[in-house]
Amino acid sequence: MKNSVLITGSTAGIGFETARVLANQGHKIFLNGRTKEGTSAAVERLQYSCKEADIDGVVCDFSKPIDLSIFPPNIDVLINNVGIYTSKDFSVTSDEDWYAQFEVNCMSGVRLSRHYLPQMLASNYGRILFISSECAYLAPEDMVSYSSTKAALHALSRGLANTTRNSGVTVNTIVPGSTYTEGAERFIQEKAAQQNQNPNQVAQAFIKSERPQSLIERFARTEEVAALIAFYASGQSSAVNGSVIFCEGGSTSATF
Ligand SMILES: NC(=O)c1ccc[n+]([C@@H]2O[C@H](COP(=O)([O-])OP(=O)(O)OC[C@H]3O[C@@H](n4cnc5c(N)ncnc54)[C@H](OP(=O)(O)O)[C@@H]3O)[C@@H](O)[C@H]2O)c1
Repeated sequence: MKNSVLITGSTAGIGFETARVLANQGHKIFLNGRTKEGTSAAVERLQYSCKEADIDGVVCDFSKPIDLSIFPPNIDVLINNVGIYTSKDFSVTSDEDWYAQFEVNCMSGVRLSRHYLPQMLASNYGRILFISSECAYLAPEDMVSYSSTKAALHALSRGLANTTRNSGVTVNTIVPGSTYTEGAERFIQEKAAQQNQNPNQVAQAFIKSERPQSLIERFARTEEVAALIAFYASGQSSAVNGSVIFCEGGSTSATF
């Protein structure tokens, strides 16, 4: 079955790679980024690597009030992937930082789910995925605000799943660990500047010192995470609802 898939924050990183996997499977893809230029360039890049694919872009900056009329009227799969993060001490994380992260990381998913869930329930089919983070569990001391937004997604996701009882709609949460994306690269550079070291040293030391429970002992690759997301976005995952799925390489030490 060909699905119509909207992935927020998908001009780069995990979102773009997920789009690539799903486009190659023949699904219609709506990519999203903040600017017309960035979004069009991503559509072109994806179209280039998946010649047969049906790809469109939706320009929307989730840090600002959103106009839902610019989004496709109907979709089958909503992947709430957009997420922003900074490395800052709690004492200097301002209200603006907190609000910005809640707005982008949580409210984007709240607004889009409120928009699309009724339509999915009416058609008796749909997938909503929330992309959380290992930080929801680890809450590193320099990422308290980000970790809080990701923890909030778990309640949001489970709460929405509870409204899908006995339908063909599922809502699940994916928990990636440290994944080498453009965003992760910026994060490493920020840390390198703080610690007065070069980014390569910081990247190598990061997993060892800051994710010591990691069993894979490395950053994940975007394609590893994207393959998992694509499965839970598919019809094959129909018995999975209200669940939290880990692809953090063991970094959270979670047994449940
Ligand atoms: N990478 C990791 O290590 C890691 C680990 C755990 C969880 N995650 C989560 O996985 C998700 C994807 O992360 P990533 O590292 O792949 O991201 P990324 O590389 O930072 O990608 C950023 C994407 O988000 C878009 N974006 C940023 N701010 C936006 C906004 N206000 N409105 C709309 N789009 C916006 C960017 O689009 P433009 O620049 O074109 O506007 C770009 O497409 C996030 O939710 C993140 O929290 C990541």
